[in-house]
Amino acid sequence: MGSFASRSCAEINISIPEAKEGENFSRVVSHSAQNGGKGSSQRKFFKQYGPFLRMPNIGDIFPNFRAKTTEGEIDFYDWLGNSWGILFSHPGDFTPVCTSELGKAAQLAPEFQKRDIKIIGLSCSSTREHEAWIPDILAYTGLKGPMPFPIISDEKRELAVGLGMLDPEFKDDKGMPMTCRALFIIGPDKKLKMSILYPALSGRNFSEILRVVDSLQLTDVKKVSTPVDWKYGEDCMVDVSVPRVYEDHLFPKGVTIKALPSGKDYFRTTPMP
Ligand code: BEZ
Repeated sequence: MGSFASRSCAEINISIPEAKEGENFSRVVSHSAQNGGKGSSQRKFFKQYGPFLRMPNIGDIFPNFRAKTTEGEIDFYDWLGNSWGILFSHPGDFTPVCTSELGKAAQLAPEFQKRDIKIIGLSCSSTREHEAWIPDILAYTGLKGPMPFPIISDEKRELAVGLGMLDPEFKDDKGMPMTCRALFIIGPDKKLKMSILYPALSGRNFSEILRVVDSLQLTDVKKVSTPVDWKYGEDCMVDVSVPRVYEDHLFPKGVTIKALPSGKDYFRTTPMP
């Protein structure tokens, strides 16, 4: 069975025959997981979905997929083009924490755009529900609209299953598991750069997501790392892989070494290059 790492341009194309309306899909998933795929229906399930039943790891090629969105059907890679991307899921429409999160993401849309990063939301609700919900999101933020980014409708839970985003604790009114608050940052090389996974009852901090984007984009092109609570413009760390003899060449603004009890010279700071 392949992993994401060995599937360089993996396409998610999953249909979920077990998850017909009215069937208990979460039972199929959790029962299969508990039994390690024993039994013929579980074996079939694992054969089909096994390689996708986990979140992609940092460095994995993020799989391509087609999806219905509030801006029409998309091919994810085509939609991304050569930009950075953020795909983030939320449990459901017309819920308070989700409304606040999408509102904040909408407010920060110009900041994401400045950084050439496209954002896209996702839940298992229909596009019709998304469209009906958008005025609430905009009203919460005071924005006039239109909604500055698309929202995927993953009604069949293909992406939710494929990317390991289902939260078994939270089910909708049909008993189907909802998506948790997953968030993936994807680079222009289509590799996963960062991910987080929050539960339904705890909203994310989108200012922190912007801060991480700044760090990812900087460390992608410069030989630096960014310390705790770093913000754009502040001093950085010289990457540990840089030999001392290259410091002057790479960091003409200077390098400061912090004296530490160990006597080692690994703690090197430099103004943001
Ligand atoms: C919310 O967004 O407030 C929420 C979503 C799903 C379950 C519980 C709360």
